[in-house]
Amino acid sequence: MSASNNPTDNNRRQFFKKLAGATAFTGSMGFAAGFGIPRLVHAIDYLQPGEWEKFRQWEATPLQARNAMDSREVATRKHIGDLTPDELEKFKAAVGIMRARSDLNPMDPTGWTSQALQHALYCSSAVRDLQVHWCWYFLPWHRGYLWSVEQMLAAAIGDKDFALPYWDWTRSPYIDPAYSGFGNPLQDATRLYTGTDQIPLDFMDVEAALQAPHFYQFGGYPYPEGRGELTEGVMEQSFHNNVHNWLGGNMSAFPTAAFDPIFTGHHGNIDRAWDAWMAIKGHELPDDEKWLNTVFSYPTWDGGITRIAVKDMIDTKNMGYQFADLNFRQHNIAPPAFEGKAASYAVAASKDDRQRIANKMKSGRRYGLLKFERMQVPIHPLCARIFVSGKDNTPHYISTFTILPVQTGGIGSLNQHVTMQLALPPQLADMVASNDDLTVHMQPVQLRGRDIPKDPIRLKNISLTSNDLV
Ligand code: C2O
Repeated sequence: MSASNNPTDNNRRQFFKKLAGATAFTGSMGFAAGFGIPRLVHAIDYLQPGEWEKFRQWEATPLQARNAMDSREVATRKHIGDLTPDELEKFKAAVGIMRARSDLNPMDPTGWTSQALQHALYCSSAVRDLQVHWCWYFLPWHRGYLWSVEQMLAAAIGDKDFALPYWDWTRSPYIDPAYSGFGNPLQDATRLYTGTDQIPLDFMDVEAALQAPHFYQFGGYPYPEGRGELTEGVMEQSFHNNVHNWLGGNMSAFPTAAFDPIFTGHHGNIDRAWDAWMAIKGHELPDDEKWLNTVFSYPTWDGGITRIAVKDMIDTKNMGYQFADLNFRQHNIAPPAFEGKAASYAVAASKDDRQRIANKMKSGRRYGLLKFERMQVPIHPLCARIFVSGKDNTPHYISTFTILPVQTGGIGSLNQHVTMQLALPPQLADMVASNDDLTVHMQPVQLRGRDIPKDPIRLKNISLTSNDLV
């Protein structure tokens, strides 16, 4: 074992001390700021490509990596802010090593670029006729993907106990300082907010998602046959998309998102929300064989490929990890102000339907749904706050969602539409029952460095429906 592969702890500490002492990088990049279109490369402007090479002194030899991976047990994933200084240093070093590998060889299957492109492949049906976003594959596919990245990071530093940290933004609704700073492999210079900016609390309504009584409503509906309509689950369209888009830059578009290491923290928390939903009494996963037997392929830490079925991903311990806890903080979300600048849509529903759905809504669970049918997705992400009003014209806040465009078909074309459903809070039951002119208002949210699209989003219909799956 050569000395450079086995640095003393002291060396390592000094090196990272140097990193910590450097000026934090906070500058914005000024790239296509009006639109927020991210670049297709990982932005490392604060460190030249070859400079990642210095991280390779912490790289495990193949034998060390093999031994570590053979002795792995169940690793416990923690919130990034709860890592010990040593654990955080190791995480940074592991990402640094993967980045360095890609500098040397962009095709290295265990390099950062390859892992990021792996995600890009599955969100563009231009390349593969399977879309893992906007449907019931969203949660399992990303679970397997993070597992694959976790394995690569563990092997890179030969750490049998390495666990991928998650970023619980309900606990720290700021970009955690661990992900930023000059020379920090976890930094990404394309983000449009910094560590002092707070994520708006209505972007993180975890409670509303956890209350979804049926898995489809929570995690996404079955994959449609042919060119059928994709219908997204509430957790994806709300806090998952909201936080992606809020961060800006690479994170605000699927093809580039996984270049930003904060992707692993964000998705770690999404994966944890899945476990939190499952831990609630009465919540059940689909028993549909089609879903359970779907198999995805992922790269392995030693440069190979492995295949995992959805049914083998349901218990995280099967995959070698568990979460430190499943407690999300639910903030008191003050309803955002209605500014009157919204696009308005009439809700289509007969009197009978309204009465029937209102009765169900009164049970206290989230049965009443507003269904936004076949929304034409914009070219740029769209973040909007949704309000509903009746005769009295007082808009009631419902939810905040984001549409992240998904690519499809020919070059430059986007998937034509997506269907989304928003649950109505039980308190609105009377309003639903007594108004034949329910109106939905879609108020776009202004985010730093982004323009609000000029045209309101087009959709086929907004209907009122109930979650009859439960
Ligand atoms: Cu595949 Cu959060 O995106």
